[in-house]
Amino acid sequence: MFLTKATLNLLNEQISHEFNNHTIYRNIQAYFSNLDLDGWASFFGVQAEGEYDHYKHIISYLDDKDAPYEINVLPYSDYQFKDIKEILEKYYATELITTKMLYEIVEQARVDNDQGTISWLYTMPVSVGGLSLIQEQIEEEDSALSLQSEFMQGFGKSDQLNQQWIRIVNENLIHRLSK
Ligand SMILES: [Fe+2]
Ligand SMILES: [Fe+2]
Repeated sequence: MFLTKATLNLLNEQISHEFNNHTIYRNIQAYFSNLDLDGWASFFGVQAEGEYDHYKHIISYLDDKDAPYEINVLPYSDYQFKDIKEILEKYYATELITTKMLYEIVEQARVDNDQGTISWLYTMPVSVGGLSLIQEQIEEEDSALSLQSEFMQGFGKSDQLNQQWIRIVNENLIHRLSK
């Protein structure tokens, strides 16, 4: 079945959105690298890779469908982060918007009775043996929220304690990523 113009437009927007997510997380990775916080940096490096995989995943679907698309990546704007609290808010907000956008594609595909696209969104693994785009999105939204909650539990008392807490979470992240 051919994609309708409406679904195709949404998928086109999603390509650029996923690439933009990738850019945001790379900038966050750079922020932590500069501070020698390798756990935090690696965590956001993994997130960035995931977003790049989503970008490629949607492109390959449109290639399979012989559907036209354009990559309209937003111009790079200097990401300056005030602190980790702001970064974690940005991270969770980014995942929430992404979930919303994917559900809009599902809704549009339902309107079009495009069962193929719905099934692709829910069941086609992004990488071999992995989860589908929607399944990964649900996990990513959850993990953004849990990292934010975990961090905020120990944040805010004093600058010195905050610095210690940032290092503790850094070690936790290193430990988790090595598993
Ligand atoms: Fe994504
Ligand atoms: Fe994501």
